[in-house]
Amino acid sequence: MTKKEWFADWFNTPYYHTLYKHRDDQEAELFIKRLLDYLKLKSGTEVLDLACGKGRHSRMLHALGMRVTGLDLSEASIREAAEFTSEGLNFAVHDMRYPFEKQQFDVVFNLFTSFGYFDELDANEAVLKSVHQMLTVDGQLIIDFMNAKKVISQLVKQEEKTIDGITFQLERAFDGQHIHKQIRFKDNGRDFHFSERVQALTITEFTQLLNATGFELIRTFGDFSLQPFNENESDRLIIHARRI
Ligand SMILES: C[S@@+](CC[C@H](N)C(=O)[O-])C[C@H]1O[C@@H](n2cnc3c(N)ncnc32)[C@H](O)[C@@H]1O
Repeated sequence: MTKKEWFADWFNTPYYHTLYKHRDDQEAELFIKRLLDYLKLKSGTEVLDLACGKGRHSRMLHALGMRVTGLDLSEASIREAAEFTSEGLNFAVHDMRYPFEKQQFDVVFNLFTSFGYFDELDANEAVLKSVHQMLTVDGQLIIDFMNAKKVISQLVKQEEKTIDGITFQLERAFDGQHIHKQIRFKDNGRDFHFSERVQALTITEFTQLLNATGFELIRTFGDFSLQPFNENESDRLIIHARRI
């Protein structure tokens, strides 16, 4: 039997949503409003929220007039997101390494570090090539990633967080290519252990990847209020690119 990939496992558990519960609708609202002000999208624009989780950004995009498709690998998350399905707001289980054949989009959003999960670096190209295929000519791409340089320089190696009665023991490490997070906790007398492993992609690597897959980098931002990106100081690396 092949081992399930870490992201298929961890993101499909309710515990992921407990640990990251501060990444909520309010944060999504602020960020999406800023992005739509910046992108100046017309009402009725077809957008894709790629790796949408439970759909917090999808719902906000729809509330602001976009026609939205949210895709995610996690069946549990899509089940919850789909409760909000309505005219112009749809969700489906889908792996972002492959194009979603049903439709083309004007804008693709990939938000909150939903990139760089794979063992092989080539898989990043596969994701961008499939995004390229799903976008209309001149279509736009927004990727919201961590600022890997800052995360590595300020790596908190061990941390304990208690949320909703569960105490999570977190251990972080950088192996030269990936940032690893070990997540251990007990619930109802049972011990759990999950991992996260995200490639520490820099702006230089993103630019190379975008150029190799038919995109042009337009602009970068460093936080959810769209301040300029500074590799030493910014918390986020937010990329705006255009399909060429
Ligand atoms: C950090 S979460 C972000 C979720 C959402 N964008 C948000 O901000 O709430 C990453 C998401 O990527 C999804 N994911 C991981 N690998 C995927 C893949 N190969 N295809 C599609 N989604 C994937 C996970 O299921 C998870 O929902």
